[in-house]
Amino acid sequence: MNYQFTTQVMVADLTRITEQAYQYDGWTSQLYAQDLNQATSRYLAIKINDEIIAFLGASLVLDEFSVTNLAVLPAWQGHRLGEILLKEAMRHLPQGTRLLLEVRPSNQKAVALYERIGFQTYFMRPKYYRDPIEDAYLMDYTIK
Ligand SMILES: CC(C)(COP(=O)(O)OP(=O)(O)OC[C@H]1O[C@@H](n2cnc3c(N)ncnc32)[C@H](O)[C@@H]1OP(=O)(O)O)[C@@H](O)C(=O)NCCC(=O)NCCS
Repeated sequence: MNYQFTTQVMVADLTRITEQAYQYDGWTSQLYAQDLNQATSRYLAIKINDEIIAFLGASLVLDEFSVTNLAVLPAWQGHRLGEILLKEAMRHLPQGTRLLLEVRPSNQKAVALYERIGFQTYFMRPKYYRDPIEDAYLMDYTIK
């Protein structure tokens, strides 16, 4: 698979992938537009044949890198691109940086991916999500 990383993302790409990939909790184009204007926001995407097909969104504040979104277009899922994106982002973070994220326990694909990388659940926040109501796993991993 011939892919390239890029940090150049546009709201339209993020929204298009979100609408197709996320079953719940997808951000709106307004949210992405606001987020892209934040100095703390970090985006990394994967491009194939000039089309963005997967991306990772995060917020970097001091030594905490909070993953806000990770999505792969359904047609491109199953190639571990989520893991590839996360590992590439981690490669650029200094030792001691703590990565944080929230995930629905029912999102087994995502939980399995995070656990494979070494994330651990440090807290379970009851009824955190809406539509449908579900607990959240709060997971973290510190770069060694
Ligand atoms: C999470 C996501 C980015 C992963 O995409 P991906 O990198 O293409 O992941 P893959 O399709 O390679 O699947 C990852 C692994 O989960 C496994 N998996 C699939 N269904 C599973 C299930 N029900 N339970 C456990 N593991 C499962 C896959 O088999 C694969 O492992 P394998 O390679 O050993 O077979 C993608 O599913 C996505 O975009 N989801 C919607 C957005 C989302 O929920 N993001 C996370 C928010 S916290």
